[in-house]
Amino acid sequence: DELEQWRVRILGRRGELTGILRGLAQLDLEERRQVGALGNQAKAALEEGLEKRGRDISEARLAQVADLERIDVTLPGRPVATGRLHPTTQVLREITDAFVAMGFSIVEGPEVEWDHYNFEMLNIPQGHPARDMWNTLWGQRPMLLRTHTSPMQARVMESVQPPVRVIVPGKCYRYEATDATHEWHFYQVEGLAVDEGITFADLKGTLYEFARRLFGTERKVRFRCDYFPFVEPGVDICRICRGSGWIEIMGAGMVHPRVLAGVGYDPEKYTGFAFGLGPERIAMLKYGIDDIRHFYSNDLRFLRQF
Ligand code: PHE
Repeated sequence: DELEQWRVRILGRRGELTGILRGLAQLDLEERRQVGALGNQAKAALEEGLEKRGRDISEARLAQVADLERIDVTLPGRPVATGRLHPTTQVLREITDAFVAMGFSIVEGPEVEWDHYNFEMLNIPQGHPARDMWNTLWGQRPMLLRTHTSPMQARVMESVQPPVRVIVPGKCYRYEATDATHEWHFYQVEGLAVDEGITFADLKGTLYEFARRLFGTERKVRFRCDYFPFVEPGVDICRICRGSGWIEIMGAGMVHPRVLAGVGYDPEKYTGFAFGLGPERIAMLKYGIDDIRHFYSNDLRFLRQF
């Protein structure tokens, strides 16, 4: 800045030297020639000096930066903090791996769903009291946030012919008061197998094998009758939980003939089983997590443990 001020003062349009050179016109010819030559010499010398000083300043500045901001390559590096998979993701992968190993393939479906698939196609017509089993978060009716992954049963069967063996991991939503075992959003893994000659023995065999793969052979698993409108018979499957008795890990059953007929399958020819399980509940059992709300609290003290 100082250098620029100097340039303006001496060499600028109204500068001192410029003034002298302008004054030449008043001199007579001989003086004009002498003073003019000297003036131009002086001007060239001053301009050269100005340029050199500018260069010196910026070189000094660079040297200063190079010194102050020097990188010491011999210092040890900073470790890169690696993240890890969320416990839900880890368990989802274990669950899907177990079923993929048994011949199931994985599909996914929309979280914003039609009443038609979430209820109607699952044998839960408008006004059916069983609708109260799912505390629905409605969008603009008849759209809703899916209350379970079961709507994918009909979507899959509408698009392929038997044999069907799919699992559907995905997020679900319910208008629900939260507590240690209930969240208003959570994951489910739906399963569906339809073919000729599938029986309840296949359902039990598949789900026992699943429990064995996830929990080992020591853990007890209990089947009990339960009601879901889209299966007949229906069961709930619990695993014994340290101390506090049984905890439900999935609902299941034989696909209801009306659901099969609804997608155009012949219920006289085909049978199948379906199940819907809760990965967070399974993670809770596996890792001894006492509250489902931990999964979504984003607390690093919790997450770092997995
Ligand atoms: N969709 C049921 C639920 O959310 C679980 C289920 C799935 C039950 C498939 C039976 C068969 O509660």
